[in-house]
Amino acid sequence: MSSDTIAQQQAPRLRLAGSGQGVDLLPPVVLAPMAGITDLPFRRVVAGFGAGLVVSEMVASQEMAQARPSARARGRAELGLTEARTAVQLAGRDPHWMAEAARIAADGGAQIIDINMGCPAKKVVGGLSGSALMRAPDHALRLIEAVAGAVDVPVTLKTRLGWDDAQRNADDLARRAVDAGVCMVTIHGRTRCQFYKGAADWAAIGAVVRAVPVPVLANGDIRGPEDARAALSASGAAGVMIGRGAQGRPWLPAQVAAALYGTPAPTVPRGAALVELVAAHHEAMLSFYGRDPGLRVARKHLGWYAEAAGGAPGPRRALLTAKDPARVHALLPAALEPAPTAAAAAA
Ligand SMILES: Cc1cc2nc3c(=O)[nH]c(=O)nc-3n(C[C@H](O)[C@H](O)[C@H](O)COP(=O)(O)O)c2cc1C
Repeated sequence: MSSDTIAQQQAPRLRLAGSGQGVDLLPPVVLAPMAGITDLPFRRVVAGFGAGLVVSEMVASQEMAQARPSARARGRAELGLTEARTAVQLAGRDPHWMAEAARIAADGGAQIIDINMGCPAKKVVGGLSGSALMRAPDHALRLIEAVAGAVDVPVTLKTRLGWDDAQRNADDLARRAVDAGVCMVTIHGRTRCQFYKGAADWAAIGAVVRAVPVPVLANGDIRGPEDARAALSASGAAGVMIGRGAQGRPWLPAQVAAALYGTPAPTVPRGAALVELVAAHHEAMLSFYGRDPGLRVARKHLGWYAEAAGGAPGPRRALLTAKDPARVHALLPAALEPAPTAAAAAA
């Protein structure tokens, strides 16, 4: 299938059906959940550029459901449940707590509940959550049924190709998940045992696309419009999910959507506009986390912005070691200025 055919054949609006009203996914280009990264400030920046959907960091269902009312209210505010185009991702092993957490999230305004069955971390897998559930499909199904039965908003699933190469069961799991009420599936094109090694296998995602009647999103290693076209072409997926590629480039999902589906192209900020964007994101992180924790969390985003801008190492180092917000802002123009290329320097 040529890339032009994809652009013409794929309807950019996907309807995610819950037992209630359902949600339109437009465009079908989604920011991936990333623990420690896709917090509310970052999701707001990405959604502001025009991503079709942004997904929260994974939330531990039992902790959420057992939190005291005051902590629960704070948690709800931090999750930004009522923000437009936001899905809340839940992780856990116990159908009861997953259902409780889903109910709390939906009552608090969440429009989509995503179930994490892809996290490879030992801490999570050891607890029979995340990608460990791929090895226990009957248990995984009980969990999905519990969540789908608890809420009337759309319930989606994010998983990998399988546990390892010998157990690539995402198609079977997805089929059963859809029977249990899941209305969209995202597949990261790696197995659990690959963690993040090797290249994402976009063609293998096609087995899931062919197995289920609901939209499938292809995920893994999509860092620009050409990757997105190739992932769609290889998999036949209905859309894409982008994670690490959006670090330091929060406009990327909107840029990919514009290239693929002709949605309005974002203006990619450069120079003073980029400085303004990063300064505003920085301030949002400081007010969200508080000054000192905010400065720590912000550092990785500042590093990604400087890297994406092609800033020179010296100003970047100065930026990343600055200890007060005014100094960070003063250093932004130099750190975000593209370093002269070797060719330009030689000319
Ligand atoms: C730092 C980090 C944190 C992540 N946290 C989550 C998470 O909370 N839930 C989840 O389903 N996937 C998580 N992922 C996986 C991503 O959502 C995505 O599947 C993976 O990074 C591959 O996509 P990419 O190549 O576009 O980054 C995480 C990935 C990274 C790098």
